Amino acid sequence: MPSTAIVLAAGEGTRMRSKRAKVLHELLGRPLMGWSVEVAREAGCDRVIVVVGNDADDVRSALSGTDVECVEQTERLGTGHAVRCALEQAGVTSGTVVVLSGDSPLIRPETISRLAGRIDGSCACAVLTMTPPDVSGYGRLTFDETGQVTGIIEDKDCTDEQRRTLMECNSSIYAFDGAALAAHVGEIGHDNAQGEYYLTDMVAILRAAGLPVTSVHVDDHTELLGVNSRSQLADATRVMQARINRSLMDAGVTMLDPSLVWVAPGVTVGADTTILPMTMLMGDTRIGSDCTIGPNTRLTDTHVGDDCVVDETVAISATLENHVDCGPRAYLRPGAHLLDHSKAGTHVEIKNSTIGEGSKVPHLSYIGDTTMGSGVNIGAGSITCNYDGVNKNHTTIGDDVFVGSDTMMVAPVNIGDGALVGASSCITKDVPADALALERSEQKMIDGYARSRRDRLERERKGQR
Ligand code: UD1
Ligand code: CA
Repeated sequence: MPSTAIVLAAGEGTRMRSKRAKVLHELLGRPLMGWSVEVAREAGCDRVIVVVGNDADDVRSALSGTDVECVEQTERLGTGHAVRCALEQAGVTSGTVVVLSGDSPLIRPETISRLAGRIDGSCACAVLTMTPPDVSGYGRLTFDETGQVTGIIEDKDCTDEQRRTLMECNSSIYAFDGAALAAHVGEIGHDNAQGEYYLTDMVAILRAAGLPVTSVHVDDHTELLGVNSRSQLADATRVMQARINRSLMDAGVTMLDPSLVWVAPGVTVGADTTILPMTMLMGDTRIGSDCTIGPNTRLTDTHVGDDCVVDETVAISATLENHVDCGPRAYLRPGAHLLDHSKAGTHVEIKNSTIGEGSKVPHLSYIGDTTMGSGVNIGAGSITCNYDGVNKNHTTIGDDVFVGSDTMMVAPVNIGDGALVGASSCITKDVPADALALERSEQKMIDGYARSRRDRLERERKGQR
């Protein structure tokens, strides 16, 4: 039976106190509603429909490029109304329908599959429930003598007695028989404390229609944590961080202190790699085996091969092949490509450049828009002057070039294979292969000058007394 997931993401999220819609706030680099969408996909849902409303354009553009369908709830009249909008606008009338909240990022795909599996000919709705230590704010389930779910009462609509005694809480994640849902969704009213169309009312409505409803309890309530505030976002981040780090460690990654490592979903790390504290691996980052990453390192969309050392480094859209040594304090910007056995050392910035095999940029240098061959050594404090104020120009450095310290290479410029550039030169002309290029004024020497200056200053000092 084909299944559809509806992700509710139209709400404002007032408790976030933010200009942006709540579902756009990121958890480990992925927007909250993106987690629900991904989980629906992993659970095997054929269609994913996101109900947008608040900040609809921004939410839509965050989903662009995916095959998610968006429907708009123009007025926020409640979760029941949101689901009705989705069914009507997307024309869903059958199959299993899973309803997810855009603000519950920790749900596991296997839990969704277990819930959806309960929808067969004999069951019209399965509610995912939990018993958290603090039940306040959650809708509570009611049961009849036979243990069948009879309804859900929102916290605000509970009597004091119900608030005290009903402990099983609604997670806001459900599976429905799509035909039953579509047939009865129009019966939801808004006679309640908030004057909203509550999706929770579907339970009692289906029971009244003689259709069985069941509940599926999740023992680990942290999986169902909802994010309504910034502190809950931090709580959820901590849970997901622990989950991701645990699975990396299970796969052979060492972490000195996993509470100080943040890894985005989808990042891969090879076995026998060590990740040191204060390291963030974000976006589409991939790391090979036998590396040491960190401390104090942030890699975004960066690919690192095997046996690399990346110490106190920030890298964005960079590629490090194998046996590369980086940092401490390197800054690798988009298009930095470090080939095998190369090095980007201390206070080195590299952008849109290839550093050839075994080539080294060890200290205090900027290399931009450069193609560098193999076996090159760049002396401390050297710069490729790639920007003339209007255009970015290219520098080519051949194989086995030695560039002395404090050299400016004013692009566009080529330095041929095997050339030698004297320290402190400002290179504005191409250097032929195997040549020495030296651009520096001649050194002057005046014998005894330093001593006579010292003597003069000493005489002046005494004379002043
Ligand atoms: C909801 C449940 C409650 C449950 C709790 C679990 C209802 C009435 N209550 O309460 O039983 O215990 O989740 O976290 O369903 N949304 C829309 N359109 C709307 C209103 C809400 O798309 O008109 C979306 C929100 O963006 C959010 C989700 O629905 O992603 C849940 O809405 P929210 O207001 O957070 O409901 P809760 O008060 O948390
Ligand atoms: Ca909520």
